[in-house]
Amino acid sequence: EVPLHDLIKPLSWLLGKWRSEDGFGHYPTIKDFKYGEELEFFHVGQPNIQFSFYAWHAETKKPMHREIGFIRIKPGTNQVALIGAQNTGLAEVEEGHVEGQEMKTETQTMARLSFGTPPAVRKLSRVFKRNGDILEQLLSMETENTPMTSHLKISYQKVK
Ligand code: HEM
Repeated sequence: EVPLHDLIKPLSWLLGKWRSEDGFGHYPTIKDFKYGEELEFFHVGQPNIQFSFYAWHAETKKPMHREIGFIRIKPGTNQVALIGAQNTGLAEVEEGHVEGQEMKTETQTMARLSFGTPPAVRKLSRVFKRNGDILEQLLSMETENTPMTSHLKISYQKVK
C-alpha cells in the first residue's frame, strides 16, 4: 500500500467504501423517492482522492445516477476542489472547504451536453460529514426552473 500524500491528509476521513440502502430524494418538481448508493474514495499516492458514487433504485436495484471524479486540496490551505463527471452528461468543478470531518463545496464551473434532458442544472452544493462510522451527504441543486433546493439526503455506513 502506498502512503497517503501529505497534502490530502485532511481528507483521510473520507477514504474507504460507504453504502446506504435508504437515501432520500426530494425536489419541488418531482415525487419524493428512496434510493441506495455506494461511494468509494481511494488514492494511489498522488495528492488527490479519486471517487465513485453509484446509485440504484431502492426497489428494483437498477443502476441510476453515477458519478466519478477527484478531490484536491490547495496546498497549505483547507480549500478543496471536487472535479466530477456524471452519467447524465454533467461535468463540473466544485470548490469549498474542509473543516475537521466535514467538507462543503459548491459549483464553480458546470458543463453540460448539448442534447441533455431539461431542466439544465445550474449549480450544486454539497456537504459531506463524518460521524464515527457514518458518513452523511446532503446535496442541493439549482436548475434553470428551480432555485437552490435540497435534492438528496443520505447516510452511509462504512463497509470497507
Ligand atoms: C430528478 C439532477 C443525483 C434520482 C432530477 C432532476 C435533475 C436531477 C435536474 C430533474 C428535476 C426537475 O425536473 O425539476 C441530479 C444531479 C444529481 C442527482 C445533478 C447529482 C449531483 C441523483 C441521485 C439519484 C437521483 C443520486 C438517486 C437515484 C432522481 C430521480 C429524479 C431526479 C428519481 C426524478 C426523475 C423523474 O421523476 O423523472 N435529478 N440528480 N438523482 N433525480 Fe436527480
